[in-house]
Amino acid sequence: MTPTVIWHDLECGAYSEDLTLWRRLAAECGGPVLDVGAGTGRVALQLARDGWAVVALDHDIELLNALACRAQGLKVQTVCADAREFELGRAFALCVVPMQTIQLLGGSEARMRLLRCVRRHLSDGGVLAIAVAPELELYETDAEVLQVLPDMTEVDGVLYSSQPVAIRGRQESYALVRRRERVDAHGRRRIAENVVRLDRLAPEELEREGAGAGFVPSGREEVAETAEYAGSVVVMLSG
Ligand SMILES: C[S@@+](CC[C@H](N)C(=O)[O-])C[C@H]1O[C@@H](n2cnc3c(N)ncnc32)[C@H](O)[C@@H]1O
Repeated sequence: MTPTVIWHDLECGAYSEDLTLWRRLAAECGGPVLDVGAGTGRVALQLARDGWAVVALDHDIELLNALACRAQGLKVQTVCADAREFELGRAFALCVVPMQTIQLLGGSEARMRLLRCVRRHLSDGGVLAIAVAPELELYETDAEVLQVLPDMTEVDGVLYSSQPVAIRGRQESYALVRRRERVDAHGRRRIAENVVRLDRLAPEELEREGAGAGFVPSGREEVAETAEYAGSVVVMLSG
């Protein structure tokens, strides 16, 4: 496994609170399913294990390679592409955009590009479901006085630890700050700060944008917060 895959698995892989919802939506809409921003396949693999044919799209080839290895024997196709600009030449009954991936795109114009792209790939009556974290609680922790245990894993004798240390608010985005520490078999430590920028996005704004891209807003679902992950609202848009 590459470091990119290890950090991704460590920071996203254990999240499971939203899976019931994606599984229910697939049961209601049927397949095939398009998973946008699939990462190492947390959602795509679950849906494929349930029997759905899934196309897992991401712009990171290392994450997709790990996903493809884990998908052996399942009906999963990986596609390396930008979510704002892709052409697959086929239609889907359901498209899911889990875990605030929509807020990573860099603003409204980028979201509109994704929405128009997905619209072209939905079959009649198909559904696009997008998870949004509208409000994040801001905090800043002194990295030397860590309050919460970090997520940790060991791979090939190397210890990886990831600790969320701050959520900072900007006018149009949030900065999620993590302290990543790696300790190798010789005890050598490497510490780095990792910052992810999330666009601020309210469900009603996404519904307006969806309508502008030709969708009909068709409801919202709540995913409860957990001790480690923020809650989210899943906005449903019908094609
Ligand atoms: C928060 S992770 C979510 C991963 C996975 N869907 C899950 O729920 O565990 C966001 C994913 O979106 C991908 N991503 C971000 N921007 C993208 C873009 N413009 N096009 C395609 N994928 C993108 C990242 O590589 C990453 O795998």
